[in-house]
Amino acid sequence: IWKCINSLKEAGYVIDSVPNKGYKLISTPDILTYEEIEPYLNTINIGRKVLYFKELDSTNNKAKELAFNSPEGTVIISELQTSGRGRLGRDWYSPSGNGIYMSTILKPDVDPVNASKITQIAAAALCKSFNEFGIKSYIKWPNDIIVNNKKVCGILTEMDAELNQINYIILGVGINVNMEKGSFPKEINNIASSLKIESGLHVNRQKLISSILNNFEILYNEYLYKKNISSSIKICKENSIILGREIKIIKGNETLQGTAIDIDDEGVL
Ligand code: BTN
Repeated sequence: IWKCINSLKEAGYVIDSVPNKGYKLISTPDILTYEEIEPYLNTINIGRKVLYFKELDSTNNKAKELAFNSPEGTVIISELQTSGRGRLGRDWYSPSGNGIYMSTILKPDVDPVNASKITQIAAAALCKSFNEFGIKSYIKWPNDIIVNNKKVCGILTEMDAELNQINYIILGVGINVNMEKGSFPKEINNIASSLKIESGLHVNRQKLISSILNNFEILYNEYLYKKNISSSIKICKENSIILGREIKIIKGNETLQGTAIDIDDEGVL
């Protein structure tokens, strides 16, 4: 027992011990292990296996390494990323202890051309969760979540596939949760922010992760079993920051300019 108590203390649990009487749990740490998330989780598959790390280069990299031998819904979480990756070869700022960096391994039995729908489903789940936490958020199609015109969350979906079969999809999500004002690197200080800075609320990361996984599983199952993403698209449209506005789409060397009119039933702008 003494050994177990010590390892719990090392993990951040505060435990009082009274000689000849026993132990008393005083407080639990703000860590993202399965044990700490599980009380708030309502899912069947998603997040039922969590691999938790103090430090990784990138949770997407680790998820790729483990994907073939892991069940669908396995979630890789790290407190810190030393080489967090964003889209278009960008870095993802990933300091320890106050963000959420997680990658979910998915193995949907759908054609690879549909993989981008997973990003729409995830964006809808994230936006719904932030809104349920009282933080009004918007989706900048296809993969950014915005609060008060600042980016607080990004999605990086990666896939391994054959011509007509998906081997796995890695759904990487980075959320700036409790970072303080002025803590972002100056290159992104004007465009990035955290849920805490924008809402003034300290957000419980364990409850937020669970809420996201709960919402994601409902929307993902709708896709798997009903073969449509209409609930996700409804959320994406209702909370879109771009619909009705003049936008620029940069696609490789090509730039398109125009008005964002609608997102169709397949999630295409
Ligand atoms: C973007 O907006 O460009 C996407 C950012 C995605 C960041 C997350 S953090 C967890 C996962 N691991 C990574 O290396 N990237 C994604």
